[in-house]
Amino acid sequence: LIPKGTGFAGIGFKSIPPNLLNPATRLLEKDLVSVPEGYTAKVLIAWGDPIAPGGPTWLADASQDAAAQEKQFGMHNDGMYYFPLQPGKVVGRTVSSQARSLRGFLNQPINSGLLCVNHEYTQESILHPDGLDVVTIAKVRKSQAAHGVSVVEISKNGNEWSFNRNSPYGRRITGNTEMRVSGPAAGNALLKSKKFSIQPTGSVDTGTLNDGYTAYGTLNNCANGYTPWGTYLTCEENWNGYFANSTRDVVAIPGIEKSDILAGQNRYGVSTSSSYRWPEVDPRFDASTNPLEPHLFGWVVEIDPYDPQSKPVKRTALGRFKHESAQVVVDDNNRVAFYQGDDERNEYIYKFVCTQPLNPKNRAANRDLLDNGVLYVAKFNDNGTGKWIPLVYGQRGLTPENGFRSQAEVLVKTRQAADRVGATMMDRPEWVAVRPRIGGYKEIEVYCTLTNNNRRGTTPVSSNQPDGTTAAGGARPTVNPANPRPDNRYGHIIRWREDGRRVTATTFKWDIFFEAGDKTRLEPNLQGNIKGDDLSSPDGLWFDDFGRLWIQTDHSGDGIGDLVNIGSNTMSCADPNTKQVRRFLTSPTDCEVTGITSTPDGKAMFINIQHPGDRGTTLNPTIASNWPNSQGYGPSGRPRSSVVVITRNDGGVIGGL
Ligand code: FEO
Ligand code: CA
Ligand code: CA
Ligand code: CA
Repeated sequence: LIPKGTGFAGIGFKSIPPNLLNPATRLLEKDLVSVPEGYTAKVLIAWGDPIAPGGPTWLADASQDAAAQEKQFGMHNDGMYYFPLQPGKVVGRTVSSQARSLRGFLNQPINSGLLCVNHEYTQESILHPDGLDVVTIAKVRKSQAAHGVSVVEISKNGNEWSFNRNSPYGRRITGNTEMRVSGPAAGNALLKSKKFSIQPTGSVDTGTLNDGYTAYGTLNNCANGYTPWGTYLTCEENWNGYFANSTRDVVAIPGIEKSDILAGQNRYGVSTSSSYRWPEVDPRFDASTNPLEPHLFGWVVEIDPYDPQSKPVKRTALGRFKHESAQVVVDDNNRVAFYQGDDERNEYIYKFVCTQPLNPKNRAANRDLLDNGVLYVAKFNDNGTGKWIPLVYGQRGLTPENGFRSQAEVLVKTRQAADRVGATMMDRPEWVAVRPRIGGYKEIEVYCTLTNNNRRGTTPVSSNQPDGTTAAGGARPTVNPANPRPDNRYGHIIRWREDGRRVTATTFKWDIFFEAGDKTRLEPNLQGNIKGDDLSSPDGLWFDDFGRLWIQTDHSGDGIGDLVNIGSNTMSCADPNTKQVRRFLTSPTDCEVTGITSTPDGKAMFINIQHPGDRGTTLNPTIASNWPNSQGYGPSGRPRSSVVVITRNDGGVIGGL
């Protein structure tokens, strides 16, 4: 099946053309998902579909309230993972020596599973009948209910995949769901925000404080991960956008310096207003009067999809930033690491190494593996080597005189800690993917999309100073070999191999997989060096279990300007050995393609179309898309982010020969 030593089973489909803008109509040629000949793409679940017991059927006029939305599929779905339905057993793609192996999972059942899906954000103009010109607590509660995560039971009957609207596993985790906080930062004074009673009619100040071990809700869940013990990891990205500090000041809190809190709000981008407008009616999100609440966001959250009663857990040991994916690797010693990006211009790449090894025979023994370990940040040297720098209290200036009084504070202020130790500022680290060690391929090889960066140049304007005072996105570093282009409009993909094939390695070798661009352009900065089909702004990234690298994109302005030859967003497939890229999927209008997972046999692939019709709204007659309605799905009315299932008409493996 796989030629020895190559770690790659080959690509079998014929690439499809880009979906370009028609200059006469100013619309994309196709307002639909296109896949190669011999494949079928169908909408499986869309925003508002009922996925938990008692959930009402979605109404196209958006008149349903928060209580309905709490039992319906959330909005703007992003990262996701398919868990085969085998309650009580260690599942996922587990094997003892490596998190993936062809033999290890081919016998797993493939006809039903639990799809865990992130809901990154909401578009208020589509979510409410009258948009957000007037903000009410009812609208805010609906918005909060449309965030978070969905656990959806899906199954295959004949060749058709569908979701179960009354599954006992069907579950919504929202912006208000009670969660446990664990790991080194749990219980710290910085996490003891005001305790509110969260009611449909408002958040009532109880006059007491949270205990530092409790949080409410998960927000802006972008990319994701999974664990070898069969749990889902959801990653909180742009959580700062839900808070507002209109005073640029905070109420006094005994034992904590105001300046310390404000420096943190600045470094993570909490601003004076929020486009979601929650703080105007929900005081929990007022970062001036409830200034510690932001410290309860920016974490990786672990969810057990097999136990609908389980409480999600915020795992603070993995650090606090604007998380993209958390991708697991288990090495030959059963040591476990999670690779993570912080998606903002000039932020960092991280790795968390668990102290305890994986116990492949006992699921319960791994339950708190994510609470103990070392968080490292990456430094990419100019000569193709790299270093993992540990973020450990007391080391490398992470000391009280520099504002770090404990490991808890190092983790709450992960960005400031990384600034201080001299990590490499990257061009917006998005998803991470790990190459499967199959067919004799033995390297631990990790890839990360650097989606673009318009704040890198030849003249530094400022940098993230060691004192951590620079605002989020404020830096403008010069180019370096790992981020080689000023004004990196098309993005690139970097990869590294751990020295000694151990996840515990503190050194690695890196190279650039490709620089994206439009090869017809003459400017070297814009041409890129992709072999095969061009793309722009790589974002979603995933290896299938056959060694194929799948790349999803997130640019805006389909077919306009820099994208005139690239068109809509895409999903492509790359050969990790030759770097050849083939276009597999083109998207409908003004969406991104994000989120990717498959059944263990590789014969059904799931991807997300997020924020279709983004440039218009149903209130706006100039709207360019109502996708997926144009394909006949659901009643007419408004565009809906959706999960799409892709199958091969001959029943074969997606992407295979
Ligand atoms: Fe939500 Fe970094 O994309
Ligand atoms: Ca997105
Ligand atoms: Ca993304
Ligand atoms: Ca993106």
